[in-house]
Amino acid sequence: LMAKSQIFTCSACGASHSKWSGRCDACGEWNSIVEEAPLSTGPGKKALGGLKGRQVPLLELNTPEAPPPRSQSGLDELDRVLGGGLVPASATLVGGDPGIGKSTLLLQAAARFAGAGLSCIYVSGEEASAQVRMRAQRLGLGDAAVRLAAETNLRDILTTLDTERPDLVIIDSIQTMWTDTVEAAPGSVSQVRSAAHELVTFAKRRGCSVILVGHVTKEGQIAGPRVVEHMVDTVLYFEGERGHQFRILRAVKNRFGPADEIGVFEMTGGGLTEVANPSALFLSDREARAPGAVVFSGIEGTRPVLVEFQALVAPSPTPQARRTVVGWDSSRLAMILAVLEARCGIPFVGLDVYLNVAGGMRVSEPAADLAVAAALLSAREDAALPSDMVVFGEISLSGALRPVSQTENRLKEAQKLGFSQAALPDRSSGSAPTGFGTRPVKDLATFVGEMFGA
Ligand code: TYD
Ligand code: MG
Repeated sequence: LMAKSQIFTCSACGASHSKWSGRCDACGEWNSIVEEAPLSTGPGKKALGGLKGRQVPLLELNTPEAPPPRSQSGLDELDRVLGGGLVPASATLVGGDPGIGKSTLLLQAAARFAGAGLSCIYVSGEEASAQVRMRAQRLGLGDAAVRLAAETNLRDILTTLDTERPDLVIIDSIQTMWTDTVEAAPGSVSQVRSAAHELVTFAKRRGCSVILVGHVTKEGQIAGPRVVEHMVDTVLYFEGERGHQFRILRAVKNRFGPADEIGVFEMTGGGLTEVANPSALFLSDREARAPGAVVFSGIEGTRPVLVEFQALVAPSPTPQARRTVVGWDSSRLAMILAVLEARCGIPFVGLDVYLNVAGGMRVSEPAADLAVAAALLSAREDAALPSDMVVFGEISLSGALRPVSQTENRLKEAQKLGFSQAALPDRSSGSAPTGFGTRPVKDLATFVGEMFGA
């Protein structure tokens, strides 16, 4: 017999630990570990019951290859991030900071899905029905055929769902739900997990799609959305910058579509509106010919998106020079600085380096390497690149440029936005649109020589 041990759980990532500590070594978060009641081994065990002792040929388990039928909301920015619409009986998590606009997005989505013929229930555990209805009215959705419920007791919610049998249920938020089968406070890791587990199980069994809203929290007592990420099919995060009106819905996991797709919205007085051309939005504040600013022609999911990299390079007042990055990977920046130094003889020693993606976008493509290098050089030399030029290409440790995917799409998007030339790897495939100039570059040293005469 095993002694019943205490369980300590990280409320940020859900990792279990045998003892308390100030920092979770699974995710690195501080003050996030809390003591939790052990999870019941409830419904999970029974699932295998029917198959126990019987052999199931694997072929029999195969599902047909046909793609699942999806429902479109008509909000293209949302449908695309979902992988082409909402899949029946799917479980989706929408995470994000408080106040970013999750409830607004999902109320609008519910209204659209209802308009497309789905029966929808929106369950709010945060606001009274009257409040939700007022918000709906303010959004011009007063007549939408969405049923509203203000409830936090999971047992009651499941009973309602079982009689109503909706096509889609939205739970806003999962942290407010509680079930009496778990002896822990609402919002704790075990409550959030078991509520999510029951809702996802319901979705699969009853063929109802469920969307869970999860707040990103900073307090250790409330579980963050990450603790349910592994239970759902699709994980979306709704992001935005303070002081910016636009919001990015980003797929970070999707069993039914590409995991790097983004949808772009703008928060207005009348709710969220779709931004069909994000490149124009991200470049809207651009100054002509600013040293340190370089436009990168990127691909986000299935769509080209232009963004501006901005670099500032200045003598460091301290012996330890700063490297500050927003919107790009800091270890990738370190690599590019090292390649510039080792392969092109351009040192950044004693210089502070700040790198930023304009407008709060986050870029993760290695295809941005050359644009980052160009921004750093442009800032260091105080020399602007031609204002009609976009830049892309991956840099290898040897300093060689590697071609990247979707060259033609990147060039077409650049031309659409008024650019007329691109610096790109010389082995790129595909051809440039008519009237668009290319400057194929073999390696970083050649690029430095051509653009900055170094
Ligand atoms: P909300 O959807 O409540 O955020 P979340 O559910 O993620 O906490 O939206 C919060 C903010 O959005 C709020 O500060 C006001 C703003 N907002 C608008 O600017 N326009 C609108 O039409 C609505 C409904 C909200
Ligand atoms: Mg909300």
